[in-house]
Formats: sequence, structure tokens, C-alpha cells
Amino acid sequence: MRIAVIGTGYVGLVSGVCFSDLGNQVVCVDKDERKVAMLRAGEVPIYEPGLKEVLVKNAEAGRLSFTTDLTEAVQQSEIIILAVGTPSLPSGEADLRYIEQAARDVALSINEYKIIMTKSTVPVGTNHKIKQLVSDLSMKPFDVVSVPEFLREGSAVKDTFNPDRIVIGTDDATAATKIIELHQQLTDNIIVTDVRSAEMIKYASNAFLATKISFINEIANICEKVGADVTKVAEGMGFDKRIGSSFLKAGIGYGGSCFPKDTQALIQIAGNVDYDFKLLKSVVDVNRDQRYSVIHKLEAIYPDLATRKVAVWGLAFKPNTDDIRDAPAIEIIQELVARGVKINAYDPIATDNFRKVVEHENITWCEGAMEAAAGADALCLLTEWPEFEKTDLSALRATMNNAVLIDGRNVFSEEELRDKSFIYRSIGRPNMNTHNDLSPLPIT
Ligand code: UDX
Repeated sequence: MRIAVIGTGYVGLVSGVCFSDLGNQVVCVDKDERKVAMLRAGEVPIYEPGLKEVLVKNAEAGRLSFTTDLTEAVQQSEIIILAVGTPSLPSGEADLRYIEQAARDVALSINEYKIIMTKSTVPVGTNHKIKQLVSDLSMKPFDVVSVPEFLREGSAVKDTFNPDRIVIGTDDATAATKIIELHQQLTDNIIVTDVRSAEMIKYASNAFLATKISFINEIANICEKVGADVTKVAEGMGFDKRIGSSFLKAGIGYGGSCFPKDTQALIQIAGNVDYDFKLLKSVVDVNRDQRYSVIHKLEAIYPDLATRKVAVWGLAFKPNTDDIRDAPAIEIIQELVARGVKINAYDPIATDNFRKVVEHENITWCEGAMEAAAGADALCLLTEWPEFEKTDLSALRATMNNAVLIDGRNVFSEEELRDKSFIYRSIGRPNMNTHNDLSPLPIT
């Protein structure tokens, strides 16, 4: 099939590249000339394992191209994928400016029947608005189909080729058949529904996963007070098929470009129809508070925290990405420097992005994990990058000023920590706390 993808952000680029790999003829459109030039040269602007290889392979095979010319791309394609961003407005509502502009641009370019397939996450009712917008501007035939995207950063290519399900929302049977055909190599789990339900499936799924995370984080907080181990609790819960074991990892809360934005947007969607989504509001509040657990643990060890130097390992919102959008590390570091704490920060790949958002004279940006830990009074692990799991804890102990380790992602095991004389705190595993004597350590 001939496909045009409007927007080469995460969703657009990954979809375009993967659809070309399935044998379709794909042209990706972006307004940003520099980005298009970069993509034409085979450079990928985001860090995403495997994406560059598939992009280059299909561009070389002549199935994938990049352009700023939206009109030509639309006219030569049967399916137009809308994949522009829907960021949050200050109110939490999704900002539909870009998708509405893209719909207008497409409308003015349509020359014959097209299927407009929306992949951007949009509030319930938006695809109907898009339909109205396009029909106001164009007399040509078209259908609008909602196909929400569920890919995760860091495994986007894998997720696109192996989706758990494909959701197709449309009122038109012919368009549905065509879009089923486009996806049928990927999975048998194809759900065809009305447009509004498809839009809701995306928000409800992300809100549910966010709820699971805040739920287990609250269980972890209670575990700390009653002496239980949240990793064992999660394991025991996860064997129940109705619960499932995924998304029950306690830590310092979720971040990223989707969960924070989509939970806020769903609260707004509900609010707009006079429904108070109390549960989801609590999920968001719990997530915000959870970040501060790292700081509370530091304070409990160091009443004079402001005079200390703290190393931070991990700035990205999760491993295998350089994305720092809504990363817990942002608020944690900002709060610490506001109190006068000196920070040594390290991330394998996200430092450059992080520095665009947070810059302060009290922060030293380090090139390596051990360099960051050197001379620190405490180390906070905020992202579970694989390289941190392999840390030589004796060498770490030796390089730090005081061996205080706050493990915000429960990376280290009891066995690994044995005899390493760390003051260790993690999330919801109080039995692993070493040194129950919380008396402040002297500055050495
Ligand atoms: C998410 C959804 O998974 C995906 O389906 C949707 O399309 C976009 O949003 P992503 O943001 O890439 O994907 O990351 P994900 O792997 O889902 O993790 C989100 C956040 O939750 C991360 O900050 C992660 O650290 C946190 N998390 C995840 C936990 O704290 N505990 C868990 O058990 C799982």
C-alpha cells in the first residue's frame, strides 16, 4: 500500500519505518527541513534500538522516503497517517493545534479517496472533529480511522512488529477492511470498534497501567512500615492471572511522554462531561509524591543534607532511552539543588537532553558512573540502566566519601550488598535496610 505519515516524532517515524519494512511504499512528512535532511542521510534523531538499521535498509530499497512536501505525499498515497504530537496544555488538556493543522493541510491536498488514519493520542471525539474539519475544506471522498499506538520507547520497533493487539476505530466497513489488511501480518488480535471507543481504549489502557504503578508504589510505602518486601508481594500477586505480573515494579514513579500526559488528559476528558475521576487523580498525586521518597530517605540519614554532595545515577525516565520528559530525576535534582545540595549527575545517554531542561552551578555532569560517585556522601540510583546492575560495589564503596546508597529502582539484591557496609535504602524492602542506626554520619 502507499502510505504517507504526517509527523516524524516517535510514533510517526517508527510507524513509517516499520510499515515500509512490511513491503509498503511509505513517505514520511515533516515541516522541519533539518530533520528531513537528517533522516534522508540515514540519521535517526531519537535513540531507539534497531530503528536506524530498519530505516536505512528500507530507504536503500526505495520503499521509504522523507519530504517536507505534504501535498505531493498525500496525493500519491492511499492511506494518510496522522502522527503529530498532542502535548499537554497547562490545564492538562491535550493541545490539538498540531493535529488540527495537519488535518487542514491534508484536506487541502486530497485529490481522490483517502483513508485518514489517526495514530496520535487524541481525546474522545477528536476524530469526529477531524472528519468535520476535512469535509468542511474538501469535497473529495475520505474516511477517518482511529488506530491508537501502544508502542513503548526503547522497544518501539519490537513492539510495532509484535503488538499485543491492534485497535481499529471506524464507522466505515470498507476502510476497516483496508486497515485490517495493513495490519494482518502483525497479529490476529485485531479489534474493530467505533471511533470513540478506540480513542478511549488508548487512554484507559495507559491510565490503567499508571494505576498499577501507583498502586504498587503505595503498597511499597506500607511495606516499609510493616516490614514486608514489596518485590515478594508483587511476585505473589502477579501469579494471579487476573492481576498479571507486569507493571508491578515499585520505584520512584512513572515518567515519560505518555503516562503523565495521558492521565492528565483523561482527568480533563472526564471533567468536561462533569465526571470527577477521583481514582485517576489519586494515581497522579501518588506518582508525584513517590519521587520525593528518595529525598525523604536522604533526609532521614542526613539532617544536614544541604551541606552534602549527592551522586545521581540515571536521568532518563527509564532505561534504553535518552528521553527525559517528565523523568523523576528532574524534580528530584531540582529539589536537591534548591536546598543547596551539590550534585554529581551521570546517565549513559540522556545527559545532553537533561541539561537542556535543568542547569545549575551546583550540578557537575559526569562522564562515568564511578566518576559521579567519587567523593559523594550518598548515591541515588534513579534509572535502572543495565550498566548499574553490574556495579562493583566494593569499588563503589571505596570511591565514595560515605557509603550511602539510595536505590530508587530496587536494582541491588541482598546478596550483592552483603559485607559491603553500605547504608542501603530501597523502595518497599525494609528488611534490606542495612545499618539501622540512623545517626548522622560525620563529614569526613
Ligand atoms: C507507555 C506505554 O507502555 C505504551 O503502551 C504507550 O504507548 C506509551 O506509554 P513508555 O512511556 O515508553 O510507554 O514506557 P513504559 O515502559 O510503559 O514505562 C513508563 C514508566 O513507568 C517509566 O517511567 C517506568 O520507569 C515506569 N514503570 C513501569 C514503573 O515504575 N514500574 C513498572 O512496573 C513499569
